[in-house]
Amino acid sequence: MSGRHLLSVDDLGREGILEVLDLAESFLEVTRREIPKVPALRGKTVVSLFYEESTRTRLSFETAAKRLSADTMSFTVGSSSVAKGESLRDTVQTIEAMGIDAVVVRHASAGAPHRVASWIHASVVNAGDGCHEHPTQALLDLHTLRHHRGPDLHGLRVAVVGDVRHSRVARSGVKALAALGAEVVLVGPPTLMPESLEGWPVTVSHELDTVLPDADVLYLLRIQRERQSEALLPSLREYTARYGLDAARAARLRPDALVMHPGPMNRGVEIAAEVADGPASVVTEQVTNGVAVRMAVLYSLLGSGGTVA
Ligand code: NCD
Repeated sequence: MSGRHLLSVDDLGREGILEVLDLAESFLEVTRREIPKVPALRGKTVVSLFYEESTRTRLSFETAAKRLSADTMSFTVGSSSVAKGESLRDTVQTIEAMGIDAVVVRHASAGAPHRVASWIHASVVNAGDGCHEHPTQALLDLHTLRHHRGPDLHGLRVAVVGDVRHSRVARSGVKALAALGAEVVLVGPPTLMPESLEGWPVTVSHELDTVLPDADVLYLLRIQRERQSEALLPSLREYTARYGLDAARAARLRPDALVMHPGPMNRGVEIAAEVADGPASVVTEQVTNGVAVRMAVLYSLLGSGGTVA
């Protein structure tokens, strides 16, 4: 990774993506050891600064930092001075004054991690900003795909299904998949597609049933009710009827097709419980790979360039 921060998939490019994924492979081996820890970032401090709810992403980054022997601090908005009206800038500058090396930022506003990066000297990692980007999710998804399909994703047909409009996972994912040569089709009702798809290397379909038989990967997105300011869907039940991956639809997938979801899943809405837990689903592998990929990202930004182990 050439820069000091990871704010967008654009910061990496194809070469940068491949570098992080290679490094993640060695860290995956570390996470499988009896003592899954290396001293690579001893003496460094990584802070997670989460202005939005999160289970897996925050725990995943914190686990990654700990497995690299970094010290970790965790900032949760509810119990901080933000509740007293402190600005984002004051908050990050206060944290930086304690002596830190990296901040992992999640924020409801697109561009917030970029602002943070302009205010402080520490490295900034974007852990999800509004409907904009979520680069480490894209990296862990690629890592998971390469485990199943080999390193070359050229020509792999990936259907990204659902609420693309509000999805930072989709924005980062499409860029990363395209960088490695995959073919992406976005699937969902017109109201859940972005207003403009200019510059997106994708095709679009509004019919899941026609896309199903040809897809190598079905990547399901959560319906982001908290981000929908207007009624974009007639009803969830209708959405599920047309776009939900139930057992009958899953049976029409190719025998080797993979089902992915970034979590948290709305079981019974975009994915049926039996499909989420079924043989095509790699959802828990995505979570496992997330730790190794985030170790690779933190190490690339903060490591001394020495050997990993
Ligand atoms: C996603 C997020 O927060 O952007 N979750 C995640 O990071 N694993 C997707 C979502 O909230 O639907």
